[in-house]
Amino acid sequence: MNFQIKSIEDYQLAYKKSVDEPEEFWAEIASHFHWRKKWDKVLEWNFEEPKIEWFKGAKLNITENCLDRHLADKADQPAIIWESNDPTEHHRVLTYKQLHQKVSLFANVLKNNGVRKGDRVCIYMPMVPELAVAVLACARMGAIHSVVFGGFSAQSIADRIKDAQCEMVITADGGFRGAKDIPLKNVIDDALVQCPSVKTVIVLTRTRTPISMIKGRDVWWEDEIRKVETLGLLECEAEEMDAEDELFILYTSGSTGKPKGVVHTCGGYMVYAGYTFQNVFQYNPGDVYFCTADIGWITGHSYIIYGPLAMGATTLMFEGVPTYPDAGRFWDIVDKYKVNTLYTAPTAIRSLMQSGLDFVKDKDLSSLKVLGSVGEPINEEAWHWYDENIGKKNCPIVDTWWQTETGGIMITPLAGITKTKPSFATLPLPGIQPVLVDEKGEEILGNNVSGNLCIKFPWPGMIRTTYGDHERCRQNYFATYHNMYFTGDGCLRDEDGYYRITGRVDDVINVSGHRIGTAEVENAINMFSDVIESAVVGYPHEIKGQGIYAFVILNHPSDDEELARKDIAVTVSRIIGPIARPDKIQFVTGLPKTRSGKIMRRILRKIAEGDLENLGDISTLLDPSVVEQIKNEKL
Ligand code: WT7
Repeated sequence: MNFQIKSIEDYQLAYKKSVDEPEEFWAEIASHFHWRKKWDKVLEWNFEEPKIEWFKGAKLNITENCLDRHLADKADQPAIIWESNDPTEHHRVLTYKQLHQKVSLFANVLKNNGVRKGDRVCIYMPMVPELAVAVLACARMGAIHSVVFGGFSAQSIADRIKDAQCEMVITADGGFRGAKDIPLKNVIDDALVQCPSVKTVIVLTRTRTPISMIKGRDVWWEDEIRKVETLGLLECEAEEMDAEDELFILYTSGSTGKPKGVVHTCGGYMVYAGYTFQNVFQYNPGDVYFCTADIGWITGHSYIIYGPLAMGATTLMFEGVPTYPDAGRFWDIVDKYKVNTLYTAPTAIRSLMQSGLDFVKDKDLSSLKVLGSVGEPINEEAWHWYDENIGKKNCPIVDTWWQTETGGIMITPLAGITKTKPSFATLPLPGIQPVLVDEKGEEILGNNVSGNLCIKFPWPGMIRTTYGDHERCRQNYFATYHNMYFTGDGCLRDEDGYYRITGRVDDVINVSGHRIGTAEVENAINMFSDVIESAVVGYPHEIKGQGIYAFVILNHPSDDEELARKDIAVTVSRIIGPIARPDKIQFVTGLPKTRSGKIMRRILRKIAEGDLENLGDISTLLDPSVVEQIKNEKL
């Protein structure tokens, strides 16, 4: 057994070993990392509570694995290459040595500002190297980071800060994204009105937007760095962490209620992020690896920061968006840095595809060796466009299926090793035991079948709890099917045993690769003064994958429907963030409900999809006539 899988035979051997002897398998993988103290036991688990403990008793610090251990032979190798939103602003390179220095200094800034091991720190920053520094500095001194994506509203941030009882916020005056400036600090100011737990706000200078700096609470990043430098606090010994100490919280939407804080821990997450990064992308020393995600999402955590750095890779971080200043930006970046691996999302591929080949044709993409896709099902058309026009039919495409809760990639081809099939995530990684189950929770065996996707054995990167509410974790993931982790996804297994993820089977929609709970959007819509009730469903959207379709009952049917729609959209933006804004709002006078008062979303979903002929049985509805009206007025 070896860490690196080099052939399909290696894969099969590793897979078999991982099922037959999981503890031996993962112990061997883990031995390729640096531990202050080795584990007493590789795995202890039950999916009842659930309790999942990997590498029990081991001591480590993930940043010693991501930074210190590379200083011997990679000190001057670029760890992070940063490309600005503005193509004329000079790029930045941080070598492993420089990144190590910056992380150490900033970890001392955190300590100097009263942060202690186990404290929660909210990070709301633009995609600049200091974001990676802030994340790693937390990990180095033992604080638990909770990164919030820059597109969330003040209310969403406040909810997350309160849920985790964060003591500190790290932000910037503002951020650049395409042609827009995002007033990050102003948004934080609005959020903090509700958050007495926050004692300190550290503010990085980025946009020079005028902002308020509140005495006794707000401090500048640059001043704080100068302070610790003056004190001579240049080194920061990494805090010794238990393998199961919490590393970070990342909030994600589910089918009910407010977003939940998915908790990942130090040891297992590190092993899983590193192992999957290395093997899925088949990274070679010196390669330039570019993941286009934002660090505000799990993809950025695992595959911009932790996975690549644990493996000593060069990770490229891009501040901007794929279409600014034009739809050739990704290709300019590939060309400029001779990128070898590009990992992006189907929504970006579809949008660039629509912009046409003029933006691709003069770009030198010959450095590319591996292409990746993540976040949502990739349709065949987009897959082929990516393959032909970007990979020039010469680069394997890894369609990687996973989730915030899984910590790392689960089902995917291994680049250049697994035979690919358009829009199939193909085969499970070693250590991953997927099962398809029917409605009754029975495992569906054999091939050419479909069902709900579950995982029946633990893996090191999996969710440990939902912050502050373990019961919610059990309810959400472990209660639907006995002794299995339920993913929320539907899936088919074809004649070759290949997996194809067909999309969520719960009330979660996936808009441009972002997970949004329908209940959350409904709650936000219902906050608008004149709304009585609403129901939100997803519908197929050409670029975004899914769009948000809202059916809304107003108290006083408006004489200016357009304005009412805009008001509701603004309300949702305010409450959740622009990413949750409905694409379509249809005003209705009633919703299809069962006699017990439950909204029949199945019918609304069909209508939103435009599948008006196949609504199924509507005889159980309280008032079947509302369906006719909704159908007739469909947008
Ligand atoms: C949901 C998880 C983890 C990456 C970013 C999204 C969907 C993710 C794929 C894929 C089909 C996919 C699933 C999953 N999804 N990757 N390759 N093919 N669907 O993380 O926000 O936690 O969302 O994204 O529906 O459950 P997330």
